[in-house]
Order: sequence, then C-alpha cells, then structure tokens
Amino acid sequence: MTTYTVRKGSAEKVRTDLVVIGVAVGKAGALVPCPGGEPVAQAYGRSFAPMLASLGFSGGFGEIARIPTNKTLNAAQLLVVGLGDRNALTTEKVRRAAGTAARSVGNAASVALALPAEDGAHVRAVVEGFAAGLYRFEEFKSKPRRGSLADVLVLTDAARRAEVVDALDAAVTLVEATDQVRDWVNTPPNALVPSTFAAQIERWVKGSGLAYELVTTAQLKRQGCGGILGVGLGSTEPPCLVKLTWTPPDARGSVALVGKGVTYDSGGLTIKPGGSMASMKFDMAGAAAVTAAMRTIATRKIPVAVSAYLPLVENMISGSAMRPGDVLTTLSGKTVEVTNTDAEGRLILADALTMAARTKPDAIFEISTLTGPCVVALGDRIAGLFGDDTTVAEVQRAAETTGELFWHLPIRDLQRKNVQTSSKVADVLQHDWVRWGSAIYAAAFLEQFVEDVPWAHFDIAGPAWNSGGPWGHVPTGATGFGVSTLVELVSSRA
Ligand code: BES
Ligand code: ZN
Ligand code: MN
Repeated sequence: MTTYTVRKGSAEKVRTDLVVIGVAVGKAGALVPCPGGEPVAQAYGRSFAPMLASLGFSGGFGEIARIPTNKTLNAAQLLVVGLGDRNALTTEKVRRAAGTAARSVGNAASVALALPAEDGAHVRAVVEGFAAGLYRFEEFKSKPRRGSLADVLVLTDAARRAEVVDALDAAVTLVEATDQVRDWVNTPPNALVPSTFAAQIERWVKGSGLAYELVTTAQLKRQGCGGILGVGLGSTEPPCLVKLTWTPPDARGSVALVGKGVTYDSGGLTIKPGGSMASMKFDMAGAAAVTAAMRTIATRKIPVAVSAYLPLVENMISGSAMRPGDVLTTLSGKTVEVTNTDAEGRLILADALTMAARTKPDAIFEISTLTGPCVVALGDRIAGLFGDDTTVAEVQRAAETTGELFWHLPIRDLQRKNVQTSSKVADVLQHDWVRWGSAIYAAAFLEQFVEDVPWAHFDIAGPAWNSGGPWGHVPTGATGFGVSTLVELVSSRA
C-alpha cells in the first residue's frame, strides 16, 4: 500500500529517497525547471543545465534522468522528467509525465513529487498520473515482485486549500478503481466467468453505499431477455446481469450506465481465427469500467442517482450454441435475426439498454469493446463516440477534463434504415456482413433500444487494451479506459 499526502515544502529540502521534478524546453532550447522544480535548479546553480545535458537529457516530453544528488539536495536521488515545450504545458501532459516518472522510481521507499501542482486540477493530474503509472499485474506470477514504495508526498503551495485536499482524495479513489478494472480485465478468462465476475463485483462494492442486485439466468428467462440468453447458450457458464444502484438522498437528476460484460469472446459458431481470440478476455472491459465508476461515484457521494446494468456472459461454442440464422426476441419485444454470432455485444446490450431506458433516466451512457472496425477507424488510443448531439457534446466536455480521447462518429438515417429493413424474417437485422462502416452499423443497432432517452455509446475496443509498451500513466495490457470520463460525466451533472 502506498500512502499519498499533500504538503507545502521545497524540493531541495524535502527528506525522501527520491524527489521528482519536471524540466521543460524554453527559448533557444534552454532547459528550464517547471513550477516545483526551481529550488532544485537553484541548489545546483549554474551546473544544473550542463549536468542534465551531459546525461543526454534535452527536456523532450517523457524523457527521464535519474541522478544521485551527493547531498546537493536532502533527497538521495533526483528524478527529472521532460515536459517538452515550456509554452505548451497542459494538465494532461503533467498527468502523463507523472506516470512516466512512476515507472522509473526503482526501489525508492519514499518519493516526493515536485511537479506543477498549483491548484486542484494539477494535483489531481499529478496523483492520478503517478499512481496509475505504478500499476503492475502479477497475480498469476508464482513469484511476484514486491513494490517497495510506501510514501508519496505531493509538494504544493496550495496544500491547505480544501480544493486540493479534495483533489488528492478524488485522485486516489479514482486510481484505486481504475486499477481494479485493470486487474479484472487482465485476469485470464478461466478465472473470470460470469458467476465469478458477479461475485467479485458484489464483494468489491460492499460497504460503498451501492445496492447490488443479481439477475440470474432463470430471472432473465422470466423477463424475456432473449439477447443475453441467446449469447449465453453456447457456454456451460450461465449468463447473468448485475444491477448496481446509487441512490443519494439529495439526487439532482438520474443517469444510467451500461457496460458490455463478455468474459470471453470466442466468436461462437462464427468463430474467430486463433490469433484474434487470445486477447478476448478483455471483452468485459466496459462492465468493469462501469463498476469502477459506480464505486467511485458512491465513495465520493456524488448527488446524482445512478443505476448500472451489466450483462455478463461467455460467448462460446457447443451443441447448444446460438446459430447464425436464429431469431431472438429481446426484452424490448423486438425480434432480431442473428447472422454473425461474433457480433454478440449488441445482442446482450440490447436487453440491458431496454432495462435502462424503461427507468426513464435523464441520460444513458453505454461503454463496450464492441467492434474491431472501430479500432481500424480510430486506432487503439481513441474511443469511438456515438449518440445524440447534446449527449455527445457532454461527453466531449467531460473528456476534455479527464484527458481520455474520443472521436464522434455519425449515425445517419441510411444506417438506421439498414438495421430496420434488412431482415426478411425479423424486426431488425443484427449484422449485414458489410465491412465498411460496421462500427456505425453496430451503433445504429444499439440505438434501436434506447427508446428516445438521450444517450451516448463509447466503442472502446481500441483503447481498453494496450498491446504495445507502457506510455505515460498507461501500462501494457488492460488500461482502465473510460472510468475517469464516466465519473466526470456524472459529477458534472451534480
Ligand atoms: N469483442 C469484439 C470486438 C473486438 C474485435 C475488439 C477485435 C477488439 C479487437 C466483438 O464482439 C466482435 O467480435 N466484433 C466484430 C464486429 C463485426 C461483426 C462487425 C469484429 O470485430 O469482427
Ligand atoms: Zn465481443
Ligand atoms: Mn464478438
């Protein structure tokens, strides 16, 4: 466990194993210390910039230099992180640089962060970035490395301001939640099936003030959730739906969150090629992000009523599996002709969206690792964003604060018409087998089930998983994408 504290103090004087400062590039390539780092530059005097230059450090964004201080400072080691152009410094860059620093602290037991932290927003960025950057997943290693970092001190002149104390609290709560998402998403699919995922959610939200309700397979049958049941047919693990509710006494408005919870996506009879199957344990990242957002909202007692709907299912193959050609009757009453069992997400989400819409919330936010084609369109760092213009704009504003990247993609009448008129046997067609724009087709399909409630859909098939090396505060593997923006969306409605 690492404890975080904010305190006023000087980076030169602070007694700690390692002190972190930011250095940017000023006029004519000059290395300039960023706010918080000035006392260190002064302590080194004129040798500061030449020393960094001799280490090959040029202030570029994300560059790192680790230096023994030989008593020039009270800290034993100095960690310098590059922040790039001095005039282009943003809170998001501070967050990412703090994450990069976290991955370079070595075996320090105590760290002081002397990064730009003049107000609550910057303190949040520093703590979120640093704490998120420390993440490691070693649950399934027989000899896990032990983290040695016990104390993190955030140096800021504003340490006494209530806004800053709140920011620290909010950041620590958010990262704890984000790390839980990462753990769940990284967990191998044999260790996380619908029933075990539901049980873990129940345990993790206990005591947070959230109400937990499990809708079992039998209850899904009684209610008529043909989408969830259809996808669950191929697995020996029964599907279920977890409902979480946050009911504050002073609620200003209501929001529903929906998250895709496919614990493993083999594709079903429309089987995936082996190469693209192995990563499909991540297909419950939407449900995990919603759970984490819910606990954060409850812990912070945000005065908005929020309910979450998490359909949990494993998409497998067997003699009882759903077939291409099957027609399912969804909870909405609409019948769906299934053409591709690998487009399973939209089938389980249809039922969950209907449940959410029937409670008439002010808005629905739905998050899912829905389509590979969205990754083709936007790459693996940007989520696809769909929905009505007002709700989409709201998401864009929230994302501005959190630093997560979204790009609005359209749903037009031509796609709606496609979904509504292409099946010869059912009300709607699940998938038209046209490759072009099929992330949009999926979104247009989902729209059929929101019943005029303002809504937005996040396709996080790309950013939920980082298949490359770590960058900034984002580790390899599960990223925890979406949690911060969902929390921000709800808290900005309070
Ligand atoms: N879970 C996948 C989406 C996915 C695929 C995410 C690849 C990341 C990488 C989803 O259930 C799926 O299989 N989608 C289909 C959509 C298609 C039928 C339009 C896909 O990506 O092939
Ligand atoms: Zn899937
Ligand atoms: Mn699939």
